[in-house]
Amino acid sequence: MAQASDDPIPTVTAYQPVPLAMRAAVRRAYGGPDQVTIETVPRPEPGAGEVLVRVRAAGLDRATLHLLTGLPYLARLALGVRRPTRAILGQQVAGEVVAVGAGDVPFAVGARVFGTAASGSFAEYAVATPARLAATPAEVTDIDAATIGVSGVTAGEAVLRRGQVQAGQRVLVLGASGAVGSFAVQLAAHLGAQVTGVCSGAKLEFVRGLGARHVADYRTTALADLGGGFDLIVDIGGNRRVSVLRAALAPAGRLVIVGGEGGGPMLGGIQRNLVASVADRFTARHLEWFFGETTTAGCAELGSLIAEGTVSPAIDRRVGLDGVVGVIEAMQRGELRGQAVVVP
Ligand SMILES: NC(=O)c1ccc[n+]([C@@H]2O[C@H](COP(=O)([O-])OP(=O)(O)OC[C@H]3O[C@@H](n4cnc5c(N)ncnc54)[C@H](OP(=O)(O)O)[C@@H]3O)[C@@H](O)[C@H]2O)c1
Repeated sequence: MAQASDDPIPTVTAYQPVPLAMRAAVRRAYGGPDQVTIETVPRPEPGAGEVLVRVRAAGLDRATLHLLTGLPYLARLALGVRRPTRAILGQQVAGEVVAVGAGDVPFAVGARVFGTAASGSFAEYAVATPARLAATPAEVTDIDAATIGVSGVTAGEAVLRRGQVQAGQRVLVLGASGAVGSFAVQLAAHLGAQVTGVCSGAKLEFVRGLGARHVADYRTTALADLGGGFDLIVDIGGNRRVSVLRAALAPAGRLVIVGGEGGGPMLGGIQRNLVASVADRFTARHLEWFFGETTTAGCAELGSLIAEGTVSPAIDRRVGLDGVVGVIEAMQRGELRGQAVVVP
């Protein structure tokens, strides 16, 4: 594989020459992991108000699979209708700023940052908007920081804000072994909740290790068999009917729908969100959903919790760019505990 060029760039503030080309995990059509190639491509240029990050680590979350496949089809309205508008895979990023665009940019060259990268993070360099980044605490490694931008921030939104968790409450996390769920279990346990984590049988002990008091295998245990009366259900996995989820709540309990798979190729389960919005009007329970947004505040909150040791990102494995295809296939097979991190 050809190495990146050493030619300097002239148009942005940078203390050291930054190569004009870089290695990246690229795909140009929707499809499976076989669409992904590791290529040398032009390095993105930061525009006004943007930063160029030397990527040190990039977390692989489930959304990357949606970006790759273009499924559900509804998502293509944002991703590109006929083909993906962005060739480079990956969203979550951690690294250091190596150049800044024109204008007012809150991060200086040399700053360690993490969050999400608009140009794609499975690459040696990525362009990011400061509003989607936070400063990396000194105690936090780039590997850990790379799991926060989507997965950590989403769990924070679900548990810390929407969940309104009180100590002693019963919290059910569906999808407890995944990228978002492994954060959600830890956050709820940290708040003093009695957490029940649902995942596949092989990962039950992993989820227990995250702080879940009870664990259950979704293949062998129905929701109705978990006791019901949950103060909070965070639904991150599966595609259960809203009525089934509502029935498992305490009289004033909350359902927070984060996501799930298996809802069909067109809508991907988003119809559940609409059902929840309508049903919420006819019950004392609170039924809600959200599409998360990476913000500086959300990243900084999770970064602080990791820095103080309250939360520890669950990292299944690290791979280089040449391992991207293999690790996406591992995600499709359901092998990952927490998430994998790409180290370009
Ligand atoms: N709303 C938002 O802003 C937002 C943000 C991020 C992600 N999401 C969505 O949230 C979902 C999870 O994302 P992720 O990155 O955490 O994915 P992930 O790492 O692949 O985790 C998926 C989890 O779901 C579990 N699962 C699969 N089938 C299940 C079932 N029938 N019942 C209960 N759990 C089941 C998996 O368990 P096993 O692996 O043990 O089988 C795993 O724990 C995706 O649909 C993603 O698109 C939404």
